[in-house]
Amino acid sequence: MHKVVISGTGVFTPEQSISNAELVEAFNTYATRQNELYADEIAAGTRAPVTMSNEEFIVRASGIESRYVLNKSGILDPDIMHPVLPERSDEDLSVMAQMAVHAASLALTKAGRDTSEVDAVICAASNHERPYPAIAIEVQQALGIEGFGFDMNVACSSATFGIQAAADMIRSGSARAILMVNPEICSAHLEWRDRDCHFIFGDVCTAVLLERDDLATAKDRFEIVSTRCLTRFSNNIRNNNGFLRRTREGHMTDRRDMLFRQEGRKVFKQVVPIVSDLILTHLADENIAPAHLSRLWLHQANKGMNDLIGVKVLGREPEPGEQPNILQDYANTSSAGSIIAFSKYSDDLAPGSLGVICSFGAGYSVGSVIVRKV
Ligand code: COA
Repeated sequence: MHKVVISGTGVFTPEQSISNAELVEAFNTYATRQNELYADEIAAGTRAPVTMSNEEFIVRASGIESRYVLNKSGILDPDIMHPVLPERSDEDLSVMAQMAVHAASLALTKAGRDTSEVDAVICAASNHERPYPAIAIEVQQALGIEGFGFDMNVACSSATFGIQAAADMIRSGSARAILMVNPEICSAHLEWRDRDCHFIFGDVCTAVLLERDDLATAKDRFEIVSTRCLTRFSNNIRNNNGFLRRTREGHMTDRRDMLFRQEGRKVFKQVVPIVSDLILTHLADENIAPAHLSRLWLHQANKGMNDLIGVKVLGREPEPGEQPNILQDYANTSSAGSIIAFSKYSDDLAPGSLGVICSFGAGYSVGSVIVRKV
């Protein structure tokens, strides 16, 4: 069995961003117009008015201040309220593949690796642009990688499950190095017309290069000490869109359940204990005391959730920097969140330092990756 390391990470951040102020202004304009349009029904009590969103609520409830998106104009246009991305021909690189190539190139540079030394690509994300051919195979071709590629989806835990899949393959000898990419275009599955969730998501792409430690040359690399994945079925985060949509009467109309929806409060309450239990059990099974952790790179959905998980895992308030959040700038970027945190806040750790990358979300799904700085 080979020892596996993360030798490089990369983050592709879209150029455009939307502040809470811009978002709320656009939403409230939409709400006002809807309420004017349906004034008679609202007055007759047959239709509920659209209630206004509020910047203060968003920061207090989630910790999110801003989000990056691929297309800002469509989202902020009260007559559109979703991103508008031009169609590409089959010969052009697809949007997800383009984001992934960008992030992967950064990860390869960081690792000091050439694509000839990579044997596989995994595209792990909560949505894929099309069912087939796999985005991973398109990325593989664009980067000139021999070997194989495949897509996988475990929603917000796609990246940590992808790390486990890649690490297991490298450990057992089926690949020397694997690029695991997470292009997340969350703006396209978010209902921007729903004030309960219109603030929560952003777009980004992360990439992680995993390879055999004996072949790695990067100075700043992290040994994968151990991985653990857990799933437990729940409908509290759900999206009913899929290939059977047109087979069902009425499903092609503008239906709320064909986009992301959640019972946010239930998710918050149910997922926090599952995550902290998983991390604590995982650490105990590896004979690692929580006090020996230098850093927690948690999923980036909600600051309150992360604060609670940090206290439960460490048994005390985390020190500043021990549990870095990026969600204030990026919002929830699904599977990419914990990897952005890891990518931006890991270079400073001393050799031997231990940390946990942990994701959680729809499924429910939870992934825990214990790493040690080489
Ligand atoms: N502006 C103003 N008020 C708003 C609002 C907005 N944008 N959105 C909701 N509200 C209101 C609600 O209508 C509700 O009003 P009420 O008390 O009169 O009914 C009140 O604010 C509280 O709403 P609630 O949904 O209970 O808020 P919350 O404190 O639970 O925060 C989330 C909402 C989504 C931020 C939070 O539940 C969360 O982050 N959950 C975990 C989500 C998660 O991790 N999901 C994984 C996704 S992959």
